[in-house]
Amino acid sequence: MVSRKLLELLNKGVARELQVSIQYMWQHVQVTGIEGVLVRHIFKEIAISEMKHAEELAERISRLNGIPTEKPEPIFVGGSLIEMLKQDQQNEEDAIRLYKSTIQVAELEGDVTTRGLLEKILSDEETHVDIFGKMLVGKTDPFTQPNL
Ligand SMILES: [Fe+2]
Ligand SMILES: [Fe+2]
Repeated sequence: MVSRKLLELLNKGVARELQVSIQYMWQHVQVTGIEGVLVRHIFKEIAISEMKHAEELAERISRLNGIPTEKPEPIFVGGSLIEMLKQDQQNEEDAIRLYKSTIQVAELEGDVTTRGLLEKILSDEETHVDIFGKMLVGKTDPFTQPNL
């Protein structure tokens, strides 16, 4: 029997997976500019990966006799490509922190299967943050640059 705390953490994961799967798909749809059009398929691919995470976490919660949430965390699509990438990088870093701490709780409770699932998802999130980070290299946001 797993704890209420572990179920709550897994549901936090579902809420943020739902958020980013919609967020990245809408970025895929809404991004503009030459660079945006060139990279929009990356948003779509990662959105699909996030939807699979939401499904896997929800299945695990259900198997543990919990009820998966249907409410996403607040979605932020953004305007410019840089704004989108910065937001997404932040969301991926938050996900990595959440899954690392959830892995520790699963470990403490001896839930090897949940730990294994979270380790696989964590590895995907590390790939995502690497992709968003590399896309941001050398980019500066014209709206946040200090006046020279
Ligand atoms: Fe994810
Ligand atoms: Fe991700």
